[in-house]
Amino acid sequence: MSQSHSSSSEVSRLELIAQGQDFAPVIHDAVLREEKVLEIKNFNLWYGDKQALFNINMPIPRGQVTALVGPSGCGKSTLLRCVNRMNDLIDTVRIRGDIFLNDQSICDPGVDVIELRKRMGMVFQKPNPFPMSIFENVVYPLRIDGERSRSVLEGVCEHSLKGAAIWSEVKDRLHESGLSLSGGQQQRLCIARAIASEPEVLLLDEPCSALDPIATGKIEDLIRELRGEYSILIVTHNMQQASRISDYTAFMYLGRLVEYGPTVDIFTKPQLAETNAYVTGRFG
Ligand SMILES: Nc1ncnc2c1ncn2[C@@H]1O[C@H](COP(=O)(O)OP(=O)(O)OP(=O)(O)O)[C@@H](O)[C@H]1O
Ligand SMILES: [Mg+2]
Repeated sequence: MSQSHSSSSEVSRLELIAQGQDFAPVIHDAVLREEKVLEIKNFNLWYGDKQALFNINMPIPRGQVTALVGPSGCGKSTLLRCVNRMNDLIDTVRIRGDIFLNDQSICDPGVDVIELRKRMGMVFQKPNPFPMSIFENVVYPLRIDGERSRSVLEGVCEHSLKGAAIWSEVKDRLHESGLSLSGGQQQRLCIARAIASEPEVLLLDEPCSALDPIATGKIEDLIRELRGEYSILIVTHNMQQASRISDYTAFMYLGRLVEYGPTVDIFTKPQLAETNAYVTGRFG
């Protein structure tokens, strides 16, 4: 990307967005060529009378890591929460448009939300282990399903903790409280819980922001390992992290998708000067 743009021309399109003008996002062909697991279509969302998402159109590739980046308040968490219908929990929310999981509507009122959420593991910014043992934390999704077999539960517990790269650290203390773990271990425990029900999609909302660099490194390694088996949609504020772990990056601004393409292209040769300004830290 040329560095010759003046800072005023770099932000002009963003100023147009801020003024409420329509703006066609740039979606790179490589994204469109991927097989998709999710498709966000003409998606709009309002909190009361305040619109937070504006006509988002976004396929999410299967088996890849897609990063959502953009300044605080641009709607990243809102979009992520819509994918597993967590916004149902907020009374003032109104939506228009739809999201499809393997071509099936997610937003249709007839959708079984409990079943849907089993297909989507979600991990939040702050680790949220339940106040119960490490073992019970991991097998919680199976308990809800009524699974009683000790051997099934033990198998899933070990498999999930191994999948979340924390088994060796906790295998001798499975019956201690999940709250007794360090922050980085708690976050990996939450990832183990999120993969215990073998979801298709993992939704991660800034999963490393409360962690130190070593714990962050472990979670990043884990995300790279889970790639392929799971389709991962991750919100991050850390541009280095997005470039290290994701295959595709979507840049959002004030509730709009601005540019979406292969991570390497978004970071080294984005099509829009605005994207370049954001990923190089010149605004936001
Ligand atoms: N429950 C809510 N009720 C009303 N407005 C909300 C609610 N949650 C979010 N918003 C508004 O919607 C917009 C998008 O918020 P969102 O949390 O999705 O942003 P974000 O991109 O995740 O920001 P951050 O990077 O700070 O986490 C913001 O203007 C926010 O104030
Ligand atoms: Mg957020």
